[in-house]
Amino acid sequence: MKISILGTGDMGGAIATAISRKTRHSLRVRGSQAGSASARRLIDELGVGEATTEDLLASNIVFVVAPAAAIEQAIATLNNYRGIVAAVSVSGSVGYDGLLSAAARMPALLPDATLVSAFSSIWSNVIREPGRSGKTSVFVCLDENDAKDVVSGLATELGFEPISGGKLAAALYAEMMGMFAVHLAMDSGYGRTISFHAFRAD
Ligand SMILES: NC(=O)c1ccc[n+]([C@@H]2O[C@H](COP(=O)([O-])OP(=O)(O)OC[C@H]3O[C@@H](n4cnc5c(N)ncnc54)[C@H](OP(=O)(O)O)[C@@H]3O)[C@@H](O)[C@H]2O)c1
Repeated sequence: MKISILGTGDMGGAIATAISRKTRHSLRVRGSQAGSASARRLIDELGVGEATTEDLLASNIVFVVAPAAAIEQAIATLNNYRGIVAAVSVSGSVGYDGLLSAAARMPALLPDATLVSAFSSIWSNVIREPGRSGKTSVFVCLDENDAKDVVSGLATELGFEPISGGKLAAALYAEMMGMFAVHLAMDSGYGRTISFHAFRAD
Protein backbone atom coordinates (compact mmCIF):
# COMPACT_ATOMS: atom_id res chain seq x y z
CA MET A 1 0.00 0.00 0.00
CA LYS A 2 0.94 3.63 -0.34
CA ILE A 3 0.79 5.14 3.14
CA SER A 4 1.31 8.79 4.08
CA ILE A 5 1.69 10.30 7.53
CA LEU A 6 0.42 13.85 7.97
CA GLY A 7 2.02 15.17 11.17
CA THR A 8 5.61 14.21 11.96
CA GLY A 9 5.93 14.86 15.69
CA ASP A 10 6.10 12.37 18.55
CA MET A 11 3.16 10.19 17.45
CA GLY A 12 3.48 10.64 13.67
CA GLY A 13 7.17 9.82 13.99
CA ALA A 14 6.39 6.68 15.99
CA ILE A 15 3.84 5.45 13.43
CA ALA A 16 6.20 6.22 10.55
CA THR A 17 9.04 4.39 12.29
CA ALA A 18 6.88 1.33 13.01
CA ILE A 19 5.54 1.13 9.45
CA SER A 20 8.97 1.68 7.96
CA ARG A 21 10.69 -0.94 10.14
CA LYS A 22 7.97 -3.62 10.27
CA THR A 23 6.26 -3.55 6.88
CA ARG A 24 7.09 -3.27 3.20
CA HIS A 25 4.48 -0.60 2.47
CA SER A 26 5.56 2.49 0.58
CA LEU A 27 5.72 5.35 3.10
CA ARG A 28 5.87 9.13 2.84
CA VAL A 29 5.69 11.76 5.55
CA ARG A 30 4.66 15.40 5.73
CA GLY A 31 4.87 17.92 8.56
CA SER A 32 3.08 21.23 8.94
CA GLN A 33 4.60 22.41 5.66
CA ALA A 34 6.87 21.18 2.90
CA GLY A 35 10.44 20.85 4.16
CA SER A 36 9.46 20.94 7.83
CA ALA A 37 12.35 20.08 10.17
CA SER A 38 10.48 17.24 11.89
CA ALA A 39 9.66 15.61 8.55
CA ARG A 40 13.24 16.03 7.39
CA ARG A 41 14.53 14.24 10.51
CA LEU A 42 12.28 11.26 9.75
CA ILE A 43 13.21 11.29 6.07
CA ASP A 44 16.90 11.14 7.00
CA GLU A 45 16.41 8.53 9.71
CA LEU A 46 14.05 6.17 7.87
CA GLY A 47 15.02 6.79 4.27
CA VAL A 48 11.41 7.57 3.30
CA GLY A 49 10.20 10.36 1.02
CA GLU A 50 8.42 13.60 1.79
CA ALA A 51 4.77 13.47 0.70
CA THR A 52 3.77 16.04 -1.90
CA THR A 53 0.10 16.90 -2.27
CA GLU A 54 -0.03 14.50 -5.24
CA ASP A 55 1.48 11.73 -3.08
CA LEU A 56 -1.09 12.36 -0.36
CA LEU A 57 -3.96 12.18 -2.84
CA ALA A 58 -2.58 8.94 -4.34
CA SER A 59 -2.22 7.23 -0.93
CA ASN A 60 -4.31 4.22 0.08
CA ILE A 61 -4.14 5.43 3.69
CA VAL A 62 -3.31 8.86 5.10
CA PHE A 63 -2.69 8.96 8.85
CA VAL A 64 -3.75 12.31 10.34
CA VAL A 65 -1.52 12.85 13.36
CA ALA A 66 -1.57 16.64 13.67
CA PRO A 67 -2.60 18.44 16.88
CA ALA A 68 -6.40 18.50 17.10
CA ALA A 69 -6.39 22.31 16.82
CA ALA A 70 -4.61 22.04 13.44
CA ILE A 71 -6.79 19.33 11.90
CA GLU A 72 -8.78 21.59 9.60
CA GLN A 73 -5.59 23.17 8.28
CA ALA A 74 -3.83 19.80 7.98
CA ILE A 75 -6.54 18.04 6.02
CA ALA A 76 -7.11 20.98 3.68
CA THR A 77 -4.33 19.34 1.63
CA LEU A 78 -6.62 16.29 1.21
CA ASN A 79 -9.32 18.06 -0.75
CA ASN A 80 -11.17 15.48 -2.93
CA TYR A 81 -9.13 12.60 -1.43
CA ARG A 82 -10.92 9.27 -1.97
CA GLY A 83 -8.84 6.85 0.10
CA ILE A 84 -8.76 5.92 3.78
CA VAL A 85 -8.04 8.53 6.43
CA ALA A 86 -6.82 7.06 9.70
CA ALA A 87 -7.61 9.65 12.36
CA VAL A 88 -5.16 9.44 15.27
CA SER A 89 -5.44 12.99 16.65
CA VAL A 90 -7.00 13.55 20.06
CA SER A 91 -8.19 16.85 21.47
CA GLY A 92 -7.18 17.49 25.08
CA SER A 93 -10.76 18.61 25.72
CA VAL A 94 -12.47 15.72 23.93
CA GLY A 95 -15.87 14.98 25.43
CA TYR A 96 -16.21 18.33 27.21
CA ASP A 97 -19.23 20.50 26.50
CA GLY A 98 -20.43 18.32 23.62
CA LEU A 99 -17.23 18.75 21.61
CA LEU A 100 -16.94 16.29 18.74
CA SER A 101 -14.10 13.81 18.61
CA ALA A 102 -11.24 14.77 16.29
CA ALA A 103 -12.27 11.91 13.98
CA ALA A 104 -15.91 13.03 13.83
CA ARG A 105 -14.86 16.52 12.67
CA MET A 106 -13.31 15.12 9.50
CA PRO A 107 -16.07 13.53 7.35
CA ALA A 108 -17.78 16.86 6.69
CA LEU A 109 -14.45 18.23 5.44
CA LEU A 110 -13.49 15.12 3.46
CA PRO A 111 -16.78 13.83 2.02
CA ASP A 112 -15.12 11.51 -0.51
CA ALA A 113 -12.73 9.83 1.96
CA THR A 114 -13.35 6.81 4.18
CA LEU A 115 -12.79 7.87 7.78
CA VAL A 116 -11.41 5.41 10.31
CA SER A 117 -10.45 6.14 13.90
CA ALA A 118 -7.54 4.01 15.09
CA PHE A 119 -4.46 4.13 17.36
CA SER A 120 -5.80 7.14 19.30
CA SER A 121 -5.65 5.37 22.68
CA ILE A 122 -2.04 4.15 22.38
CA TRP A 123 1.09 5.96 23.57
CA SER A 124 3.75 6.67 20.93
CA ASN A 125 6.27 4.69 23.04
CA VAL A 126 4.07 1.61 22.64
CA ILE A 127 3.69 2.18 18.88
CA ARG A 128 7.50 2.13 18.68
CA GLU A 129 7.89 -0.85 21.00
CA PRO A 130 4.70 -2.90 21.54
CA GLY A 131 6.43 -4.96 24.25
CA ARG A 132 6.12 -8.62 25.08
CA SER A 133 3.60 -8.71 27.92
CA GLY A 134 0.40 -9.09 25.85
CA LYS A 135 -0.87 -7.39 22.74
CA THR A 136 -2.18 -3.84 23.06
CA SER A 137 -5.64 -3.39 21.50
CA VAL A 138 -6.17 -1.00 18.61
CA PHE A 139 -9.80 0.11 18.61
CA VAL A 140 -10.99 0.57 15.03
CA CYS A 141 -14.12 2.74 14.61
CA LEU A 142 -15.63 3.34 11.19
CA ASP A 143 -18.89 3.61 9.28
CA GLU A 144 -17.77 2.01 6.01
CA ASN A 145 -16.77 -1.56 6.70
CA ASP A 146 -14.71 -2.01 3.54
CA ALA A 147 -11.80 -0.21 5.22
CA LYS A 148 -11.90 -2.36 8.34
CA ASP A 149 -9.73 -5.21 7.04
CA VAL A 150 -7.16 -2.79 5.64
CA VAL A 151 -6.66 -0.85 8.89
CA SER A 152 -6.99 -3.96 11.09
CA GLY A 153 -4.44 -5.76 8.91
CA LEU A 154 -2.00 -2.89 9.29
CA ALA A 155 -2.50 -2.85 13.09
CA THR A 156 -1.71 -6.58 13.13
CA GLU A 157 1.41 -6.05 11.03
CA LEU A 158 2.60 -3.48 13.59
CA GLY A 159 2.18 -5.95 16.46
CA PHE A 160 -1.23 -4.98 17.83
CA GLU A 161 -4.59 -6.64 18.24
CA PRO A 162 -7.31 -4.87 16.23
CA ILE A 163 -10.69 -4.70 17.97
CA SER A 164 -13.89 -3.54 16.27
CA GLY A 165 -14.84 -0.36 18.08
CA GLY A 166 -18.14 0.17 16.27
CA LYS A 167 -19.17 3.18 14.23
CA LEU A 168 -17.13 6.35 13.78
CA ALA A 169 -19.30 8.00 16.45
CA ALA A 170 -17.63 5.69 18.99
CA ALA A 171 -14.26 7.32 18.17
CA LEU A 172 -15.22 9.80 20.90
CA TYR A 173 -14.78 7.06 23.51
CA ALA A 174 -11.56 5.75 21.97
CA GLU A 175 -10.13 9.28 22.04
CA MET A 176 -11.26 9.67 25.65
CA MET A 177 -9.39 6.44 26.40
CA GLY A 178 -6.39 8.16 24.85
CA MET A 179 -6.75 11.04 27.29
CA PHE A 180 -7.29 8.57 30.13
CA ALA A 181 -4.02 6.87 29.12
CA VAL A 182 -2.32 10.26 29.51
CA HIS A 183 -3.71 10.63 33.04
CA LEU A 184 -2.91 7.02 33.91
CA ALA A 185 0.67 7.44 32.75
CA MET A 186 1.12 10.05 35.45
CA ASP A 187 -1.21 8.81 38.18
CA SER A 188 -0.96 5.03 38.03
CA GLY A 189 2.80 4.83 38.17
CA TYR A 190 2.94 2.83 34.91
CA GLY A 191 4.32 5.73 32.87
CA ARG A 192 4.06 6.16 29.11
CA THR A 193 3.82 2.48 28.32
CA ILE A 194 0.46 1.93 29.99
CA SER A 195 -1.80 0.15 27.47
CA PHE A 196 -5.31 -1.13 27.04
CA HIS A 197 -5.88 -4.79 26.26
CA ALA A 198 -9.45 -5.98 25.62
CA PHE A 199 -10.21 -9.56 26.50
CA ARG A 200 -13.15 -11.84 27.19
CA ALA A 201 -13.33 -12.51 30.92
CA ASP A 202 -14.94 -15.91 30.62
N1 LIG B 1 2.13 11.45 21.47
C1 LIG B 1 1.35 10.39 21.69
O1 LIG B 1 1.74 9.41 22.37
C2 LIG B 1 -0.04 10.36 21.08
C3 LIG B 1 -0.81 9.20 21.23
C4 LIG B 1 -2.09 9.15 20.66
C5 LIG B 1 -2.56 10.25 19.95
N2 LIG B 1 -1.80 11.37 19.85
C6 LIG B 1 -2.34 12.52 19.09
O2 LIG B 1 -1.56 12.71 17.95
C7 LIG B 1 -1.54 14.12 17.62
C8 LIG B 1 -0.10 14.58 17.51
O3 LIG B 1 0.52 14.41 18.76
P1 LIG B 1 2.10 14.48 18.93
O4 LIG B 1 2.38 14.05 20.31
O5 LIG B 1 2.76 13.80 17.80
O6 LIG B 1 2.34 16.06 18.81
P2 LIG B 1 3.69 16.82 18.42
O7 LIG B 1 4.87 16.04 18.83
O8 LIG B 1 3.52 18.20 18.94
O9 LIG B 1 3.67 16.85 16.82
C9 LIG B 1 2.67 17.50 16.12
C10 LIG B 1 3.01 17.43 14.64
O10 LIG B 1 1.91 17.95 13.91
C11 LIG B 1 2.44 18.70 12.85
N3 LIG B 1 1.50 19.71 12.37
C12 LIG B 1 1.11 20.86 12.98
N4 LIG B 1 0.24 21.52 12.19
C13 LIG B 1 0.11 20.76 11.07
C14 LIG B 1 -0.62 20.91 9.87
N5 LIG B 1 -1.40 21.98 9.67
N6 LIG B 1 -0.51 19.96 8.92
C15 LIG B 1 0.26 18.88 9.11
N7 LIG B 1 0.98 18.66 10.24
C16 LIG B 1 0.90 19.60 11.20
C17 LIG B 1 3.72 19.33 13.38
O11 LIG B 1 4.54 19.58 12.26
P3 LIG B 1 5.89 20.47 12.34
O12 LIG B 1 6.87 19.62 13.08
O13 LIG B 1 6.24 20.64 10.91
O14 LIG B 1 5.54 21.72 13.05
C18 LIG B 1 4.24 18.22 14.26
O15 LIG B 1 5.10 17.38 13.54
C19 LIG B 1 -2.30 14.84 18.74
O16 LIG B 1 -3.62 15.08 18.34
C20 LIG B 1 -2.27 13.82 19.88
O17 LIG B 1 -3.38 13.95 20.73
C21 LIG B 1 -0.54 11.46 20.38
